[in-house]
Amino acid sequence: LGQGSLTGKRILVTSGPTHEPIDPVRYIANRSSGAQGTAIAHALAALGAHVIFVTGPADVPPPQGVQVVRIETAQQMLQAVEAALPADAAVFAAAVADWRVASSSGSKIKKDAGRLPVLEFAENPDILATVSQRKADRPGLVVGFAAETDDVIANATAKRARKGCDWIVANDVSPATGIMGGTENAVHLITAHGREDWPRMSKQDVAARLATRIAQALG
Ligand code: C5P
Repeated sequence: LGQGSLTGKRILVTSGPTHEPIDPVRYIANRSSGAQGTAIAHALAALGAHVIFVTGPADVPPPQGVQVVRIETAQQMLQAVEAALPADAAVFAAAVADWRVASSSGSKIKKDAGRLPVLEFAENPDILATVSQRKADRPGLVVGFAAETDDVIANATAKRARKGCDWIVANDVSPATGIMGGTENAVHLITAHGREDWPRMSKQDVAARLATRIAQALG
């Protein structure tokens, strides 16, 4: 990779969904292609950053020129993220499953006529909040995402405060927008200074603009 404004910076990016096993052949997951996280990792690497890309099973391949760490579950993602610290910045673009199956079965659950399985859930760790609230080795800049369908700005602003991150990239993922699984995104950047509304643009352009902003913030 060439020289750029992020040369010498170490940046963590989470991306994709997590898969939470029910049994060895079944899982629950979030809907996420990994496209936006992949584009962000690519854009950061293009500016010279050393990118540690922690990804769940995404639809799109990871970008070239980054260090790829593949995981499946939220608990594995948290472990991989903590193992990758310290970092100058961290961008949490993954769609992490909020819950896992409390006691997933080691063997395939048999279809048993008339008897339906009942799943119990346990709460997954919130990786963004955990890293934001670390005392030692908290990255200097922590960026979270907020995919919302209602009250996008209000919910994202509250999320920024609740999780303790520095920036939130908020977007409206109502089905009518076509953003989920699509090639474009329309985001608002929420910081301590207020909010910026970015025009609708390709996910690549959102990534490039965010990478430039991160480079400015890291100085
Ligand atoms: O609370 P919500 O899932 O809407 O928050 C979204 C943000 O939090 C994203 O940046 C996502 O990557 C992150 N997150 C996380 N770990 C979780 C849930 C969400 O890092 N368990």
